[in-house]
Amino acid sequence: MQTDSSFTFVLFGGTGDLSMRKILPALFEAHRAGGMLADSGKIVAVARHAADRGEYLQWVNEHVKPHVSKNGVDEAAWASFLERIEFVKIDLGNPEDFTLLRDAVKDLPGIRVFYLATGPSLFVPICRALASVGLNENARIVLEKPLGYDLKSSNAINDAVGEIFAEEQIYRIDHYLGKEPVQNLLALRFGNALFEPLWRREWVESIQITIAEELGVEARGDFYDNTGALRDMVQNHLLQLLSIVAMEPPHSMDSDSVRDEKLRVLRALKPINQLDIGKVAVRGQYHSGVIRGNAVPAYATEPGVKQNSTTETFVALKVEIENWRWAGVPFFLRTGKRLADRVAEIVVNFRSVPHSALGASALRAGANRLVIRLQPNETIRLYCLAKQPGEGMNLASVHLDLAFDQFFREGQMEAYQRLLLDVINGRLALFVRRDEQEAAWRWVEPILNEWKASNKPPKPYASGTWGPAAASAMLAQHGTCWLEEEN
Ligand code: BG6
Repeated sequence: MQTDSSFTFVLFGGTGDLSMRKILPALFEAHRAGGMLADSGKIVAVARHAADRGEYLQWVNEHVKPHVSKNGVDEAAWASFLERIEFVKIDLGNPEDFTLLRDAVKDLPGIRVFYLATGPSLFVPICRALASVGLNENARIVLEKPLGYDLKSSNAINDAVGEIFAEEQIYRIDHYLGKEPVQNLLALRFGNALFEPLWRREWVESIQITIAEELGVEARGDFYDNTGALRDMVQNHLLQLLSIVAMEPPHSMDSDSVRDEKLRVLRALKPINQLDIGKVAVRGQYHSGVIRGNAVPAYATEPGVKQNSTTETFVALKVEIENWRWAGVPFFLRTGKRLADRVAEIVVNFRSVPHSALGASALRAGANRLVIRLQPNETIRLYCLAKQPGEGMNLASVHLDLAFDQFFREGQMEAYQRLLLDVINGRLALFVRRDEQEAAWRWVEPILNEWKASNKPPKPYASGTWGPAAASAMLAQHGTCWLEEEN
């Protein structure tokens, strides 16, 4: 991919955790790969915690370098990467400081990208300060999640940012959309005529989407305790995955065609009402336990977490989509921290044969199933029934495996690398449009409100398990169970 689009990439929160772990390493990878970033492109880091460029580069050397290139750093590439970096010391609380930024970027070439790797409370003040020195014109702005806390606060941010930047200048990040396997879902569904005819209520019994993590809240207890799994993972990542799995084929891959179809799914989600919530939503919180042989503490004792916190670290939901393609097909979503495994996958359970001429074993569960594993190892596994060798007609479940790394050994890109290149090149398809975000909040909010009003604590689960038993019971009512097997 050769590019001549020059750019000035202004990174607010230049010494923050996200810049250190994700953004600067992703920019370095793009730089190292060659041909992805225009030679004249510049990175302008904005922060308070460094005195000048020299001190900032020292910080980059100490803190960012350990996060780049797992297989060792290419020193020549690293040195030339540092040459791209400029630094401006700004106190974000002081809008007058933005004249320093204006002066620093005025002679730099190309499209301007402002990446707000800061807390959401700073989004609006930064946008206003940028506008006050005329830097919003013809620029792109990147907003990190969480974008708001509920529909109202997210609307307030979007309204205020929208007064300064037009929608097509705004890039709302959901890093799941940048993951290679998530992109591959589009290829699987819309590049293969084989699957599409089956991808509907007539042939699909249920669908599961799981994002399970082994990690706890790490150093983010403070933030997480005010957020919880529903806001942190469901409102964005899980609903985005669901919309890609369930959407109608777009007429092209241009950004609005794809986003229009995703939006239709989000708007067709059956609202969860107060009476049903106990049947279709499970919330849990991890207690102490053992993960891969190591004892881990309970959520309530993590730093930054309030005593007796009722924040959920696990959510399981039964979701329905009210349209012709999916009416009556349950979608089971689940996410949690400190679970038994780190895995993100989509399981499509197809219906059994309508009549079994081969005996009861042809109706067994576990066959007629497609498992799309997004991480850790991207694979697609198709379960079918086959005759067991020998006498008689006994069927057993077997599977066909497609491991992507056997086909594509090179060219893998981290989510952030893809998304940053898309911003620089003006491609909006993998960013969340305002109406999608609103629809997701609108659907999630009654659940949040009901959980708050009911004041019931989340169900406990031991770390290293698959969450509260109620999550399994919810599926058992539909004659199914979560797929929990080693790949
Ligand atoms: C983030 C959440 O958006 O996604 C984190 O805030 C979570 O809590 C992370 O750990 C998971 O992302 P990934 O790419 O590691 O699956």
